[in-house]
Amino acid sequence: RRRIGVLTSGGDAPGMNGAVRAVVRMAIHCDCEAYAVFEGYEGLVNGGNMIRQVHWEDVRGWLSRGGTLIGSARSMAFRERAGRMRAAKNMVLRGIDALVVCGGDGSLTGADVFRAEWPSLLSDLIAAGELTTEQVEPYKVLNIVGLVGSIDNDMSGTDATIGCYSSLTRICDAVDDVFDTAFSHQRGFVIEVMGRHCGWLALMSAISTGADWLFIPEIPPRDGWEDDMCSMITKVGSIGQLNRKERGKRRTIVIVAEGAQDRQLNKISSSTVKDILTQRLGLDTRTTVLGHTQRGGPACAYDRWLSTLQGVEAVRAVLEMTPQSPSPVITIRENKIMRTPLMEAVQATKDVASKIHAKDFAAAMTLRDPEFKE
Ligand code: F6P
Repeated sequence: RRRIGVLTSGGDAPGMNGAVRAVVRMAIHCDCEAYAVFEGYEGLVNGGNMIRQVHWEDVRGWLSRGGTLIGSARSMAFRERAGRMRAAKNMVLRGIDALVVCGGDGSLTGADVFRAEWPSLLSDLIAAGELTTEQVEPYKVLNIVGLVGSIDNDMSGTDATIGCYSSLTRICDAVDDVFDTAFSHQRGFVIEVMGRHCGWLALMSAISTGADWLFIPEIPPRDGWEDDMCSMITKVGSIGQLNRKERGKRRTIVIVAEGAQDRQLNKISSSTVKDILTQRLGLDTRTTVLGHTQRGGPACAYDRWLSTLQGVEAVRAVLEMTPQSPSPVITIRENKIMRTPLMEAVQATKDVASKIHAKDFAAAMTLRDPEFKE
């Protein structure tokens, strides 16, 4: 029987448990054995009881559980070749030659490196007397399949990453709550949301809550943005030149992505924005940094079905891969679950990010959307 390992890596995301559950159950359905690797790559390197066989009932009820029940870690050891050799040995000793990795682009790149190195890792293990040629013989090829688990929705080639819609839902709920207290006190609130270098959570939550203004890394505001923001908040709009009070506006919300920056690449922080609103508009303003509440909690319905369908597809991909096929990542595009070469998706993601960091914002946006105009 084939033995398929599954691990979660990088920042946790709602839906990771659904993905693990689907991989485990689909593996068993396909007459394979499923192994959970605990604490991400750290478990692969350390072995022992951090790699355990999992049965159908072991993942019962996991669809609705938040975080990742098999743990996640940023493993320094796996970044070193010596760590990857230990990981390879642990896998061969357990007869595991296929891995489904659920994580962000860094975690998935690590998986692809591991696959490319696999034959040489095995040769080194034999040369070092850690494994015999006979032990290695049945496991000469390593199959790797990626699932993108991240609240940031920051991977090219897929419309949604596992976890992003749960996080978006939590942000919207939090902004709605803040709206109530903002209304009561006629206050402004600057709400900082996660997303690392990606503005998807900020953009989508701003649209979904009707926020007054927004900062995202992908489109740094033009110079003089302070005036633009203040004048938009105080007047204009379809109801004419009335100011904020005259319009009966009692609450003001500005959403700031944690990676937001201006055109000189200076960070635009929530406290800077708060100071501007306070000083220029005399608006009683508070900041709320939503932090890790955005990452915890149960997965929303979308992430439950996405993780389930993608977990099933990941096992199919493992079983259909040939030694020549590039490692795939399971994506969703226009509501269809698909396979995309993992490193193509990672490279496309890097291309966008490097343009953003090179101040070539328009080029970065054009990569995402060829029709983009500033
Ligand atoms: O990638 C997910 C994420 O939550 C980002 O949005 C955020 O920048 C980062 O992880 C926070 O990482 P940590 O939990 O290590 O502080």
